[in-house]
Amino acid sequence: MSMIFNIESSSSLLNMEETSTIEKSHSGYDRMSEVKAFDDTKLGVQGLIENRVTKVPPIFHCNEPESNSSSKPKSKFSIPIIDINSGIIGDDVVEKVKDACENWGFFQIINHGIPVHVLDDMINGTRMFHEQDPEVRKRYYTRDLSKKVLYVSNFSLFQEPYVNWRDSLGISMAPNPPKDEELPQVCRDIVIEYSKKVKSFASTLLELVSEALGLNRNHLQEMGYGDGFVVLCHYYPVCPQPELTMGNSKHTDNDLITILLQDQIGGLQILHQNQWIDVPPIHGALVVNIGDLLQLLSNDKFISVQHRVIAKNIGPRISVATLFRTDDEAGNKTSKVFSPIKELLSEENPPIYRDTTLAEYTAHFYAKGIGTSTLSHFKL
Ligand code: OGA
Ligand code: NI
Repeated sequence: MSMIFNIESSSSLLNMEETSTIEKSHSGYDRMSEVKAFDDTKLGVQGLIENRVTKVPPIFHCNEPESNSSSKPKSKFSIPIIDINSGIIGDDVVEKVKDACENWGFFQIINHGIPVHVLDDMINGTRMFHEQDPEVRKRYYTRDLSKKVLYVSNFSLFQEPYVNWRDSLGISMAPNPPKDEELPQVCRDIVIEYSKKVKSFASTLLELVSEALGLNRNHLQEMGYGDGFVVLCHYYPVCPQPELTMGNSKHTDNDLITILLQDQIGGLQILHQNQWIDVPPIHGALVVNIGDLLQLLSNDKFISVQHRVIAKNIGPRISVATLFRTDDEAGNKTSKVFSPIKELLSEENPPIYRDTTLAEYTAHFYAKGIGTSTLSHFKL
């Protein structure tokens, strides 16, 4: 295992002529083949930990100036916490959601109706998947994004400037869920249960967001934009040199809306008024954030905000992000057209974005890599 990251051994296999045709990083090692070797292990970052790697390999090093420092003064800001008291939705709640969607793009919900034991079990199920026998885990490893169940380290590994200290199990649960037996056995029951619960909470959430936009309560659901969802079970192993890398580099979500469950380790931050702000773990709460598609539909009224997860030398950290966006009935990237919602437009508020399809949008998202804005590409 340690051979994979031994710089001398990989480049000494090649003579000078060959190396010159291979893309090399500034530090002069054949980065791409190291990345590929890492991917070929099919065991993710957790595989490094299992093999007692004590240094963060160079492919994970990020050179962003504003990366991991936790020495910054504590911000006076904190993201809104909204109590929705299981279903009784009054005007004050709608007002709070509106304010959060307009000014923060992120908020935490308490009393959402999903029992705490279901949340705890979902975190545990994720842990059990990533910590199970490597030989079993490995069988799920694939980069085929059309698979309904996929285990992978870094979804766009080969497009990114550095590898994130994170592995994920992604499960596409709607509109067409995998067969029960396709789900990993260690977390099968809880994935099914959590999905049911999170779907029902999402429907309340979409009603709230519709109202917060000044639309009919059922508007977003009737448009069918939130019918599909994927559950991403993230695992951020403990990191021996957290200052050198990131758990999740800064990005916006490319969906309608995301519901995030995080454990108590912390590390999630959002960019608010040019400052990185912690999203503090609250046991039993769910974090909600607006994705790019909702920013587009709302004609920039609601904002999709950059966020990241710093690496830590405590952990593992576990989170479960459920991303809502719809595919067509066959589960393909749809021809459904996205454009600013007509009811929100007026002479004073003309459309900012042109029409796009989910297929076009997704293709662009993957082509440009994570971290730069997808939306600006569709501005009129
Ligand atoms: C994501 C994400 C944050 C986290 O999956 O898009 O931002 O805390 N996750 O894992
Ligand atoms: Ni995200």
